Amino acid sequence: MSSSNNSLANKAQAWSARFAEPVDELVQRYTASIGFDQRFAMVDIAGSLAHAEMLATQKIISSQDLADIQKGMAQIKSEIESGQFNWQLALEDVHLNIEARLTALVGDAGKRLHTGRSRNDQVATDLRLWLRSSVDDIAVTLKSLRLALLDLAEKHAATIMPGHTHLQVAQPITFGHHLMAYFEMFSRDASRLVDLRARFNRLPLGAAALAGTTYPIDREQVAKTLGFDGICNNSLDAVSDRDFAIEFCAFSSILMMHVSRLSEELILWLSPRFGFIDLPDRFCTGSSIMPQKKNPDVPELARGKTGRVYGDLISLLTLMKGQPLAYNKDNQEDKEPLFDAVDTVQDTLRIFADMVPHIEVKAEVMKKAAEEGFATATDLADYLVKKGLAFRDAHEAVAHAVKACVGRNCMLTDLSLSELRFACGLDNRPELISDDVFALLTVDGSVQSRQHAGGTAPDQVLAAIKRGRADL
Ligand code: ARG
Repeated sequence: MSSSNNSLANKAQAWSARFAEPVDELVQRYTASIGFDQRFAMVDIAGSLAHAEMLATQKIISSQDLADIQKGMAQIKSEIESGQFNWQLALEDVHLNIEARLTALVGDAGKRLHTGRSRNDQVATDLRLWLRSSVDDIAVTLKSLRLALLDLAEKHAATIMPGHTHLQVAQPITFGHHLMAYFEMFSRDASRLVDLRARFNRLPLGAAALAGTTYPIDREQVAKTLGFDGICNNSLDAVSDRDFAIEFCAFSSILMMHVSRLSEELILWLSPRFGFIDLPDRFCTGSSIMPQKKNPDVPELARGKTGRVYGDLISLLTLMKGQPLAYNKDNQEDKEPLFDAVDTVQDTLRIFADMVPHIEVKAEVMKKAAEEGFATATDLADYLVKKGLAFRDAHEAVAHAVKACVGRNCMLTDLSLSELRFACGLDNRPELISDDVFALLTVDGSVQSRQHAGGTAPDQVLAAIKRGRADL
């Protein structure tokens, strides 16, 4: 980027003859956004073309002006795409850079483009257009991740693992069921994305600086050309509203919180203490000092990046909280947090969609872990309840049995029928426990018996996967 020998840029500044001296160099750097808002170049041009077409339809500019603007913009587009465009710091932002180049290329028609418009409604339009296409890209990647989870869950609908509460072994579940919990979270994220897109897909242009414009503009035409569902209703709100950027960062924060929870589990499962899964080497890194190490860097970084996305949300909320209506230059600070959230979410989703299908599941290790820690104790209590014992009494009886097994360092299924009756303190009521109890005390029996919608039984997991596929 050059800081320009362009005459427009050098005189006083791009905006007007009102200024008697050039802006201080540090102030110029401090106030410029061209370093980051170049990302808007293509949507800025699209917005300008739609505006110019409307100006011509409304006879505010001539059809010759429109043709000149279209021709100039085509040239500018190709200069930008080929990296030839000379972005100038002195021209402050993407809007003034493109407009100055247009005027250099086509003369007076370029100077007429800004009729009935301000950079305030222009930048608000650019933001919405840019975010809309980012949202559409993210929806596609999020769908790939959801599909990857469904596929892996289907493979492991009957793979047994320990379910935890308080990170203590609680009850046996299936790995497919566990994965489907994340599918649910990401499906809610997807629906939040659809919601927020529908709310922000409205056109700010026409609001001009803040109060609207005196020209006979047709906002509906511009909205239609740019694929908006309607126009922003209030000109002051149109130029100053950044709710959509905040909503996107809120969506991103919740999504990243979900990714972070999944990451935390992958990290635990990958640790040799668990040893439930393995990840291909290409998603891991080694240590520069410990040759034996294989580190789960991708999930760790995703967990770490969650913090910066929360930061983006807090930055934007704080940016807006003290602003009087309407536009204030503070708003220029809206872009970097939004870009950061979009980039982080998109990269994270892409890498997880790639990685999930390659999670290597160590089913034997998972099953063995589920068999430790008396994961089927609740099943025994439920069995006793079905035989007529009150649940609290059953709970107590099983607690005694578990205590006895801990003392003997064995599992509930290692006990004989009479030992089990005795351990439960129920040897005086043998009718409460018979031989059929042992099938229930296996981890397979335990998951099989959770046969209701939303339960962990393999059939129910397959049904949930089927519903998930239908939703996608
Ligand atoms: N670069 C500015 C921004 O990002 C564009 C709008 C400038 N408007 C103004 N009145 N200075 O917000």
